[in-house]
Amino acid sequence: MPASAELMVQIPAMTKKAKGRAPLSVVVAIIGGLALAGIIFTEDLRSLTEIMEKKKDKQTNEQKRTTSLPAGARMMLTRPVENATPAPPPVENAPPPVKEVAPPTPAKAAFDPSRCSVTEGYWAYNRSKKLYYTDETCPFVDSQDSCQRNGRPDSDYLYWDWHLDDCNLPRFDPAAVLEKLRGKRMMFVGDSLQMGQWLSFVCLVNSAVPYTARTMERTSTLSVFTATDYNATIEFYWAPYLVESNSDRNIRLGADGRVLHVDAVELHAKHWKGADVLVFDSYVWWMTGSRIKTVWGAFGDDGYEELDAWVAFRLGLKTWANWVDANVDPNATRVFFMSISTTHMRSEDWGREGGIRCYNETWPITKKGYWGSGADRRMMEVVSDVLGRMRVPVALLNVTQLTEHRVDAHVSVYTETGGQLLTPEQQADPQTYTDCIHWCLPGVPDTWNQILYAHL
Ligand SMILES: *[C@@H]1O[C@H](CO)[C@@H](O)[C@H](O)[C@H]1NC(C)=O
Ligand SMILES: *[C@@H]1O[C@H](CO)[C@@H](O)[C@H](O)[C@H]1NC(C)=O
Ligand SMILES: *[C@@H]1O[C@H](CO)[C@@H](O)[C@H](O)[C@H]1NC(C)=O
Ligand SMILES: *[C@@H]1O[C@H](CO)[C@@H](O)[C@H](O)[C@H]1NC(C)=O
Ligand SMILES: *[C@@H]1O[C@H](CO)[C@@H](O)[C@H](O)[C@H]1NC(C)=O
Repeated sequence: MPASAELMVQIPAMTKKAKGRAPLSVVVAIIGGLALAGIIFTEDLRSLTEIMEKKKDKQTNEQKRTTSLPAGARMMLTRPVENATPAPPPVENAPPPVKEVAPPTPAKAAFDPSRCSVTEGYWAYNRSKKLYYTDETCPFVDSQDSCQRNGRPDSDYLYWDWHLDDCNLPRFDPAAVLEKLRGKRMMFVGDSLQMGQWLSFVCLVNSAVPYTARTMERTSTLSVFTATDYNATIEFYWAPYLVESNSDRNIRLGADGRVLHVDAVELHAKHWKGADVLVFDSYVWWMTGSRIKTVWGAFGDDGYEELDAWVAFRLGLKTWANWVDANVDPNATRVFFMSISTTHMRSEDWGREGGIRCYNETWPITKKGYWGSGADRRMMEVVSDVLGRMRVPVALLNVTQLTEHRVDAHVSVYTETGGQLLTPEQQADPQTYTDCIHWCLPGVPDTWNQILYAHL
């Protein structure tokens, strides 16, 4: 596999564009984009989701056309399995799903990152689960993710825990985390999903920090939470592609206007130096359905080339990997990479014919090992392949399986668009406005951080 993949990279399907197509306007857009500080983190979601939806439909049609599995297996692909249908809304203290009422299982092993798979597990409902924070008690939750504050009427999605089949996943311990981070810098780097994870981490930790012993400074590119008693910072750096692009500052640029520098990362990476813990993600911005435009050398020199998303992703990720290998001291810095955070764009995937993506979903898909169409396998292979060749060990936190189940936990219409909360009229138009990419806080990113904590 790697050999043919390499070949594809060397003889890529490139379309040379006319000279001078990208140039000056791009530079202007970058500078202009700096003024957009207030809304800079809010991607143009609508266009993103719409395009993704189209792409997924196309992919699945292709999949159906080309699939040549035995009849029974094909059924599994096209017809929802009974279990895949989300359960009816529960009443207060509803009986938890099957797994939890099963007779007591033998004690599970303590968590050991080298032995325990975080992908093999199940969600269990626990109405008495204690929440570390809510979007009312944690002042840092953005209105993009504050579902309850934004009027989400149901709350069951808050009360699920991810349990591993074979090991005990430790509970997130804010005091222990602060102790580990004493005198250190931890930095999350990536897109708005990663920003959600950073906010989740901050809110989880914040519950153990007195009001007077913390500061938060946010700018369009770098945000820093400081626990002053510990001299510890938990930071977020905005770089949705990790590598440089003309839309890093001008996020309003539509998918068609975006031009990447798949071979350049230094502008961002210089800010990552000296961090003791680095947590990266990058996926959804590559998945706009368009081919990725990239320039080599300086913006505006030479027009651009168009690459398939996964080819561009491989080149960009290699650029990132080379930087990490050359600049990170593995004895001093822990490096993590988050696997794909699944999107839920096709309700047919989980047997909700006629549904509107994740809109109105209030219960996870409990079917063991459920896998829909929201996580691109090829992109995932690129990640494992590139990470596998690095000198600096990077721990891949594979949260894809656990996110697959959570159709119920996206922000849906309880979010904002272009920096403004959705109006009641917009909320009443879920076909246009439902966001099935981002996650409510508290919610799924807390579990990612529980897993991150288990690896720290
Ligand atoms: C449910 O949550 C409570 C409170 O956090 C905890 O004590 C209890 O062990 C949990 N139950 C299960 C089955 O995990
Ligand atoms: C705080 O931590 C930074 C590293 O993040 C270190 O350079 C600095 O010396 C520390 N300050 C104190 C007072 O410990
Ligand atoms: C990391 O530490 C080990 C053992 O202390 C040492 O042999 C190695 O050279 C160090 N690596 C780097 C990159 O400093
Ligand atoms: C969403 O749920 C509400 C309340 O249960 C219901 O009235 C509405 O018809 C549902 N909409 C869709 C599109 O399923
Ligand atoms: C993550 O785990 C899934 C199984 O849950 C697996 O199919 C996938 O290859 C893993 N992803 C990576 C990048 O290793």
